[in-house]
Amino acid sequence: MLCAVCLLPSAVRKCYFGRFFLPRDGTFGILFLSHFTLAAETPMPTTLTSLPSWTALKSHADNVRGQHMRDLFAADGKRGERMTLEAAGIFLDYSKNRVTDETVKLLLDLATACDLKGKIGAMFSGQKINKTENRAVLHTALRAPKGAVVTVDGENVVPAVHETLDRMSAFCDKVRSGAWLGYTGLRIKTIVNVGIGGSDLGPVMAYEALRNSATRVIQFKFVSNIDGTDFAEATHGLDPAETLFIISSKTFTTLETMTNANTARDWVLSKLTDPGAIAKHFVAVSTNAAAVSKFGIDTANMFGFWDWVGGRYSMDSAIGLSTMLAVGPDGFREMLAGFHEMDENFRTAPFEQNLPVLMGLLSVWYIDFFGAETVAILPYDQYLKRFPAYLQQLTMESNGKRVTLDGAEVDYATGAIYWGEPGTNGQHSFYQLIHQGTRLIPCDFIGFLKTLNPLGAHHDILMANLFAQSEALAFGKTAEAVKAEGHPDWLVPHRTFPGNRPSNTILLEKLDAKAVGKLVALYEHIVFTQGAIWNIGSFDQWGVELGKVLAQKILPELQAKDESGLHHDSSTNALIRRYRASRG
Ligand code: F6P
Repeated sequence: MLCAVCLLPSAVRKCYFGRFFLPRDGTFGILFLSHFTLAAETPMPTTLTSLPSWTALKSHADNVRGQHMRDLFAADGKRGERMTLEAAGIFLDYSKNRVTDETVKLLLDLATACDLKGKIGAMFSGQKINKTENRAVLHTALRAPKGAVVTVDGENVVPAVHETLDRMSAFCDKVRSGAWLGYTGLRIKTIVNVGIGGSDLGPVMAYEALRNSATRVIQFKFVSNIDGTDFAEATHGLDPAETLFIISSKTFTTLETMTNANTARDWVLSKLTDPGAIAKHFVAVSTNAAAVSKFGIDTANMFGFWDWVGGRYSMDSAIGLSTMLAVGPDGFREMLAGFHEMDENFRTAPFEQNLPVLMGLLSVWYIDFFGAETVAILPYDQYLKRFPAYLQQLTMESNGKRVTLDGAEVDYATGAIYWGEPGTNGQHSFYQLIHQGTRLIPCDFIGFLKTLNPLGAHHDILMANLFAQSEALAFGKTAEAVKAEGHPDWLVPHRTFPGNRPSNTILLEKLDAKAVGKLVALYEHIVFTQGAIWNIGSFDQWGVELGKVLAQKILPELQAKDESGLHHDSSTNALIRRYRASRG
């Protein structure tokens, strides 16, 4: 049917003339049979894959796929210096990617078409961008300087953030100095953080990352798993009279954490017997004061945060109490300053100088136009050994989504699988597949110019390996080069490296608290950039609910004495019966 206004087929869906001349409510719809009217009555959201910048990237990718990085470098002697970016003290070399200047331009066009700028502004200004939970997303307010104003529901949240930081600092000073004593008058020698997911992974990662500057007078343990082994091993050999538990849970209802917290209370009371001892050996970090109080922890010993802090974005809130206890209030504030520096780059820098935007777009390039399913995170620093695990929750719980914010199923790939290990260990494990396997795995190499443990030539060897790996991945080794080494023909394919395997190299001066803040904020905003392009809700996590509900249903079935009442599928029923039989 043709539009009565512009005479184009109504399948085009939008009448640009009618838009100006017809009322928006479609009153003239029947009269004019205009496709403008149809669009006005049933608005059709523009899909990502129909954006001109997306289709341009698609055809551009067909072209780039045929090019080798060897040729790109040969054609531009300055590529390795040009395709770099330095912001907030982080240097990024992105030249070893399968991109041209045109790729970067088209990716930036895509970001503009997806209103990334507007979306960044919406987050920083406290708009409720977490639609399915009707919440603001304001982890950036946790590191805002004291005088800043960030408003949620008409209230500036920054003063409360700093008030909590001050309370945390006072508490940490007491514990670290020995002024805080246990129930029997002994000093605290061990701190055990009990939490899971975002209430564990950030604290563990930060503790490991900052171990070099952490107090050695107090030891830190982390209990997360519901598996009793985790609690038993963490507390093995400890004296309850010298142990302080931090029960970290945003909701204070999480099954694993509450079970471990109850076990911890029993463990403490098994020696100290008086329930009054709880006040000296338990503190809580939560948004749920009522549940904390019900558990028996005095809310004077509770450090709060807010519903606008997502669990996986909370390591810089009071959830970081163990981090502050380890590195001290000044160290913690240094870390927050690092976060803030990166926030400012993300919030204010033009996209071409914006580190998280550029890295986020590069990941979209591989995930959506090269079919990459994973991203490898390869920190060349032993202190960052838990960084890949931390990023797994940040990236996959955020962007593991299959519908857009409007609830429509996506017709493009979203969140990739993030994984990794520190170098050089990974080299002797899985790098083989990255070099010669059939999959394309973009890698982020993270290194530090200065080591915190200068021991002989260790650091030079470590960094030589980092640089060698990205070089080998990009340029490989041709069959001709292998032949020229005198290898027999049959061996040549086995010893050939195809190369053309992409990587980013990220360099920082040294691994201090500020660097940790910068790195975490960098990836937080990479995740945001990806989610903004994909138009998905990066800040909820409904996908973890179903398993939790089913576990609650199965638990009494495992413990039941009678054989009746199993209504699962035949596999689940049989597994439950086998478990019951083993319990006798
Ligand atoms: O795994 C789901 C989840 O809700 C995470 O998002 C969160 O970090 C974790 O559980 C722990 O939740 P809480 O801090 O409320 O115990």
